[in-house]
Amino acid sequence: MKEKLDKLKEIKEKALLGGGQDKIDSQHKKGKLTARERINLLLDEGSFEEMDMLVRHQSSDFGLDKMKYYTDGVITGTGKINGRTVCVFSQDFTILGGSLAEYHAKKICKIMDMAMKIGVPVIGINDSGGARIQEGVVSLGGYADIFLRNTLASGVIPQISIIVGPCAGGAVYSPAITDFIFMVDNLSYMFVTGPNVVKTVTNEEVTFEELGGAHTHSQKSGVCHYVADNEVDCFDAVRDLMGYLPLNNKEDAPVYKFQDEEKDLTFLNEFIPDNPNKPYDIKEIINALTDEDSFYEIMEEYAPNIVVGFAKIAGRSIGIVANQPMVLAGVLDLNSSIKGARFVRFCDAFNIPLLVLEDVPGFLPGTDQEWRGIIRHGAKLLYAFCEATVPKVTVIIRKAYGGAYDVMNSKHIRGDINLAWPSAEIAVMGAKGAAEIIFKKEIDSADDKQNALDTKVEEFKEKFANPYLAAERGFIDDVIIPSETRVKLIKYFSILETKVDTNPKKKHGNIPL
Ligand code: HXC
Repeated sequence: MKEKLDKLKEIKEKALLGGGQDKIDSQHKKGKLTARERINLLLDEGSFEEMDMLVRHQSSDFGLDKMKYYTDGVITGTGKINGRTVCVFSQDFTILGGSLAEYHAKKICKIMDMAMKIGVPVIGINDSGGARIQEGVVSLGGYADIFLRNTLASGVIPQISIIVGPCAGGAVYSPAITDFIFMVDNLSYMFVTGPNVVKTVTNEEVTFEELGGAHTHSQKSGVCHYVADNEVDCFDAVRDLMGYLPLNNKEDAPVYKFQDEEKDLTFLNEFIPDNPNKPYDIKEIINALTDEDSFYEIMEEYAPNIVVGFAKIAGRSIGIVANQPMVLAGVLDLNSSIKGARFVRFCDAFNIPLLVLEDVPGFLPGTDQEWRGIIRHGAKLLYAFCEATVPKVTVIIRKAYGGAYDVMNSKHIRGDINLAWPSAEIAVMGAKGAAEIIFKKEIDSADDKQNALDTKVEEFKEKFANPYLAAERGFIDDVIIPSETRVKLIKYFSILETKVDTNPKKKHGNIPL
């Protein structure tokens, strides 16, 4: 028996070395951690249970018979994050560049199937040269097997992708289907075709970082949801995110302890500037209304005119969608609509109640927006709010103009509780624009046009730029004192915990993609 135990020990020691010490050293020299070091950072200490450590590829083409490594370049298994089970895979760049082929893909599929069966999130750590060139079409099939599972798991279990190295070619489409993509500054890159192909086809000179680095995807493309400065921060951020999410679509997110129900928020009563064109930072309101230090922003660098993220209110997870008056006056445009819509759909799929903080002057005008499809993309946000059946609460802080009033979770589209601050202006448009249209003739014929306009603007403001006409009709449920908002939200989200609402039975809707 001793011999057999020794043999097992020898095999496992070999497996733990991945592609060998020289490859591990080279990984470290590039400033990258190994696949196992990453798993250790992600999971609770000692919680990882590895599966398929002894898998090896069965190919012999192009010298592969001499390059048989245990794990076949991906480490898979289960573990815990703050005591809650997750399934994990971590690509090992020290083995054939973490390239994906038949058995590497089978292992990922197996752990994804396991995650679906036991109803827990799957977290993929990506660091790979893409399809293993020596195994050819088998590798492509492997990717497709993963894409299918990503799609079927969407909305059933949370899927998180961490990119800590290359992720190129078709390989990008697995993370793209998952719910959240984390990248590390100056370490991760994602692109369908790399700089060399780009140069050949379009004659553009572009670096890896410019084409597909973390900030490119967090600011320009919207592919990346979170940028970390380094790998350690990245894994910490994923662990934090898990604290807001349920394990699957039938469960609720974990409830945290909280101490600050009675926060003194009197500053909110003076917070909104009298001048409706003066900005303020919506994040100050978010932090005031939610549990201390609980706001977790998603896609911070993309379309910052809308702010989305998770927070805790009385210890329970909520998803926040808020217009940001500091950026483009909080207007809805293409990118902010898409960003908001995807976030709303995630929250709805995973039973996370929604809080909307509204200060929106409308949709952004212009040929650029119209030609690029603000109709189609704006409709995404509208559709997402309409179909969401989780508890939905809106607080109108200031502007709620035009179609944007309807879109931002109005009562008409099944907002459960819609509140307004006394500073709210619920109207078809801003006072100046409205006066210029409806009093055009009177203003044009006046001797002092500016004075006539100012008078009419004041008249319009007095009549329409307030929350009371909407309140008269029950379009909002109450006008509240700002400093009392947190207490009201705690009460209402608690009341709404038992909410049941459904949509008509269908195969699936046809969201305007
Ligand atoms: C097999 C690969 C590999 C691959 C890297 N390696 N990529 N082996 N198949 N796809 C091997 C290298 O030969 C090398 O082996 C080791 O991994 C480390 O690679 P390096 O090049 O030394 O590392 P680095 O300098 O960091 O460069 C990383 C890289 C580069 C930029 C990813 O390796 C590269 O360009 N690889 C090819 C990328 C690619 O074209 N993939 C196919 C994409 S198409 P040794 O033994 O020398 O250490 C695709 C289609 C998917 O993926 C379709 C799905 C639908």
